[in-house]
Amino acid sequence: MTSQIIPVEPFDFIAFGGTGDLAERKLLPALYQRQRAGQFLEPTRIIGTSRAKMSHKEYREFARKAISDHVKAAEIEPEQLETFLARLHYVAADGKSGDGFDAIKKQVGESDRIRVFYMAVAPALFGDIAKHLKGNDLISQKSRIVVEKPIGRDLASAEALNDQIGSYFDEHQIFRIDHYLGKETVQNLMALRFANMLYEPLWNSAHIDHVQITVAETVGLEDRIGYYDRAGALRDMAQNHILQLLCLVAMEVPSTMDADAVRDEKLKVLRSLKRINGQEAPKMTVRGQYRAGASAGGAVKGYQEELGSQSSTETFVAIKAEIENWRWAGVPFYLRTGKRLATRVSEIVIEFKHIPHSIFGEGAGRILANQLVIRLQPDEGVKQWIMIKDPGPGGMRLRNIALDMSFAQSFQERNPDAYERLVMDVVRGNQTLFMRRDEVEAAWKWIDPIQGAWVENLQEAQGYTAGTWGPSSAIALIERDGRTWHEST
Ligand code: BG6
Repeated sequence: MTSQIIPVEPFDFIAFGGTGDLAERKLLPALYQRQRAGQFLEPTRIIGTSRAKMSHKEYREFARKAISDHVKAAEIEPEQLETFLARLHYVAADGKSGDGFDAIKKQVGESDRIRVFYMAVAPALFGDIAKHLKGNDLISQKSRIVVEKPIGRDLASAEALNDQIGSYFDEHQIFRIDHYLGKETVQNLMALRFANMLYEPLWNSAHIDHVQITVAETVGLEDRIGYYDRAGALRDMAQNHILQLLCLVAMEVPSTMDADAVRDEKLKVLRSLKRINGQEAPKMTVRGQYRAGASAGGAVKGYQEELGSQSSTETFVAIKAEIENWRWAGVPFYLRTGKRLATRVSEIVIEFKHIPHSIFGEGAGRILANQLVIRLQPDEGVKQWIMIKDPGPGGMRLRNIALDMSFAQSFQERNPDAYERLVMDVVRGNQTLFMRRDEVEAAWKWIDPIQGAWVENLQEAQGYTAGTWGPSSAIALIERDGRTWHEST
């Protein structure tokens, strides 16, 4: 069965940083896929812009290459590709000085189509670009601006950035992307919780022992020297992706799927996170940095060797988080993320409490607590571990088995990239999967004291060998509580 594709109203998509890495790897391939799915109506146009001088024809060739490099060969349909490329235009413009914005205006014309201004550029340019858009009378009621993380490096800088954008666009026009929210399985988390009767009655401190959220990567620094070393894992992953996942697990049932109904509930969770102060940070948080080791079967350098200089930036973070509200009091959320870990896996584990009393004798074996494992990537799926009787004679022996739902096995459909969903939501004006200003700022309010405590306590990043599960203190963080990290394979 294929899902129904609903075309969107014609729109102009103006990509700042149109020749950059994000446009090449994510935006152009995602837009091509939506063209192929039949979602574009005439006269939808995509206008790339950057400082480089380039003709429309050259930009189309750039896009053709981006698509051939980043879309599977079997998904490249020549006719669709040509129709897509014909939608592309290019205008050279300088986001800082504003040179060339008159040409963007000319290209866009006076139409009252939806305008999406996508900021695939460094955050330092967001404010200037917004100002020049305004100055050139490009912002209409039907305009939206899309910004990518990092939205600040702490609360103060996030507020400043939000103020800058907010002076030219209303909040309902601002789409702050957290691409994790565009992942199919992340959205499935809401379906699992709110479209089934099974879980919600148990989804609280009376029945859940703890929650684990792991986002493990095998990649290292990649080419992001300038950005990553100033950010570190706490800012790069925990402030946004990990906290968004935590919110979706922990939030109350929103009254509807409307953007503000969902975001109000997420905000309450962020505001209920127990602040980790200087004294607690050493036992509630772990910082790590990878050393030389092995990844994907080959030898890899340590972080500082890759960087080419000394650094105390963390490439791994683990946190024991607590949510101070009725639903979650006493239920720890163990969070961990890092680069150059043993395997690439993102998953959420909900561990239920043990049964209060066993009627089975010792011969039955250990009765394990039920676990619900939501695998976000790769091999997306949901596993519900339950105890059953081991088949066959010989008395009552119990065994832990998984009710296993693998997306790949259950569905024939292509799993769309997060950007496909998100870009179309921008055009539709649906903000449910985008972060509201107060959410981003509430997340920083929780992150800043941790960052501050690390500085104050001189809490070092502990070395871990590339290809392992992080520093041993991350294991101790959970094992001290008599629990253990779920073994992801
Ligand atoms: C980005 C981070 O937001 O997410 C990167 O800046 C990280 O450091 C990436 O590698 C992970 O995304 P995904 O979709 O590959 O899990």
